[in-house]
Amino acid sequence: MSARRPLVAGNWKMNGMPDAIGELRATMAGAGDARCDVLVCPPFPLVADFAREAGEGAVGIGAQDCHPEEKGAHTGDVSASLLAAIGARAVILGHSERRADHGEDDALVRAKAEAALGAGLLPIVCVGETEAQRDAGEAEATVLGQLDGSLPDDAGVVVAYEPVWAIGTGRVPGTDDIAAMHAAIRKALVARHGEAGQGIRILYGGSVKPGNAAEIFAIDDVDGGLIGGASLKADDFLGIVAAA
Ligand code: 13P
Repeated sequence: MSARRPLVAGNWKMNGMPDAIGELRATMAGAGDARCDVLVCPPFPLVADFAREAGEGAVGIGAQDCHPEEKGAHTGDVSASLLAAIGARAVILGHSERRADHGEDDALVRAKAEAALGAGLLPIVCVGETEAQRDAGEAEATVLGQLDGSLPDDAGVVVAYEPVWAIGTGRVPGTDDIAAMHAAIRKALVARHGEAGQGIRILYGGSVKPGNAAEIFAIDDVDGGLIGGASLKADDFLGIVAAA
């Protein structure tokens, strides 16, 4: 048994209108006695209302990105300190969709993670290989390279391993492949942070559903999940929370 408390985080991506607060309420109602940490990460404009609704309860609210600087001339961006001020507890950083859509590189992700830590937010730093990289036998090198460049020196982070080809596709790596990657990530975290590296949670993300969550979460060094599509409906999300 690991001392790490599992975390199940829902990444709503660009989904959800204001009335989706009903799904948050249903999640809160069902997650009261969860034996894991639970986060819901809606789009920016919903973060404040959701955080007010969630209060100090069992479900935390997170965002999906932040800017590395605290303020300034950055049209359309949002600072970590503003997110913290409106009640967010965490922020997802370096998601493969942001790396692809917005050209975010490791150094930028690291700067964002440092800003998040400085603001008192929990950074969830995402890494993961493309299908071409896996086919070329470069999955581990890719992921460890991303980790090396994206992680701050502070160990107060969460890592999310999300193979790009498993996101939204219904395809999930075999349990042996997940186990091997999470073990490699753990080794790298301990090499970098010493004993503190044992305390960093490593989430798996990519097509996690209520039906496969228990099997995935039972793998060594899988400390919960980062959930996309299945986090949008409280019933599905709670099924995954229950599996943790
Ligand atoms: P899906 O759960 O929809 O595959 O998305 C995973 C993901 O990208 C979470 O960040």
